[in-house]
Amino acid sequence: MNIIDTGERPTTKESASPKLKRVQCLTDLSEDQIRAIRAIPAHEAAKPEPINERRPAAMFTAAERFELEQKNVFRKRAVPVTLSAMLPEKNSYFPHDGYGVPIVVTRDQNGQVHAFLNACMHKGSKVVEGCEARKGKLMVCPYHAWSFATDGRLIAVPREESIIGLDKSNRGLRELACKEAGGIIWVMLDPAAEPDFGGMDQQLIKDFEALDIPRMEVYGRKTFELEANWKLVLEPFLEGYHVTRLHANTVGPMFPDVPNANEILGLNVRQLQGKVNFTPEGLDVEGENIHKSVTFSYIVFPNLVVITSPYYISAMYIMPKAANRSTVEYIMLTRQEADNEKAKELYSKSYDMVLNVFGNEDFRAAEISQQGLSTGALDDVIYTGLEAAIPAYYRLLESHFS
Ligand code: FES
Ligand SMILES: [Fe+2]
Repeated sequence: MNIIDTGERPTTKESASPKLKRVQCLTDLSEDQIRAIRAIPAHEAAKPEPINERRPAAMFTAAERFELEQKNVFRKRAVPVTLSAMLPEKNSYFPHDGYGVPIVVTRDQNGQVHAFLNACMHKGSKVVEGCEARKGKLMVCPYHAWSFATDGRLIAVPREESIIGLDKSNRGLRELACKEAGGIIWVMLDPAAEPDFGGMDQQLIKDFEALDIPRMEVYGRKTFELEANWKLVLEPFLEGYHVTRLHANTVGPMFPDVPNANEILGLNVRQLQGKVNFTPEGLDVEGENIHKSVTFSYIVFPNLVVITSPYYISAMYIMPKAANRSTVEYIMLTRQEADNEKAKELYSKSYDMVLNVFGNEDFRAAEISQQGLSTGALDDVIYTGLEAAIPAYYRLLESHFS
């Protein structure tokens, strides 16, 4: 596993955002989140439904399946590519190669988000290199310095008088359909495909609004290059079966060995897990940080994982690279900048802990699963009743292949 630490830390927002409450209580959540939390049974009553679910091992190893997913999902629908928090300021831009198509996501002078193919309209060079978000009114191509505004317009061409018939208004960056809601930015990666933003479920967006995701800040960001199929990386975030086992020496003791409650929001999955300290009666204790007793984890279709914690939110983009390779971009979001030593230490310890748990435990499990499945020992994999959200999610994915 190869880890690239971008060393990125928060940028200060241009305009003062409304002060966020450091702690969220049950009543701060959306009506539907509250309903779902109130439906979590006491641990003694939470019994897994036995299920009969298998999937072919080849879905994690075959190049044909990888191609099919690229064609029918990642190039056909708008996919989540980054968070609003990565572009908190007007006139900022962020180059992104994670999906195998070089793009640049921008926030223009009016605060509107755009996405473009990252190809200069002179001779095609990438206009913005690297993988860091930057501030600036102009994106200047490193090759011959044609410059483009953050809304994609071609602004300046050195020695323009030497070109016959150049109309700058026809030579802006090639724009991709793009939408921002609930703190997430979705992009259509194929400029020729009919835009399909059907994955942006309204309830999902309400949930993310209630969780404050659009107003949170990037605390840290880290990229992991993994030798594993993207779905093997996703699976541990769709089940609690492994938690007390794989994470026995880290976060395991915080969770009971009971099934997640999960619901489908359009194409997206919302899971809820009461922690060991959870009781239905405890929900009504006033002023209590709800994220101390309940964990939400979402799969934003098809590949973004969002997990709540008492003082931060984790977002992970799991990007397929080949049948047996993927890139994960982990982003930790915090409600407000750490303004005292205690908060600084809390954020820093949380960041190290979460990278250790995901990197050395969940991602390692994905890599060793890939190694084992590649031997051909299994024709199929089996899911338990404690992993029922995985086949539920696969049915959403498989609906794109029929
Ligand atoms: S290729 Fe960009 S300015 Fe020439
Ligand atoms: Fe895990």
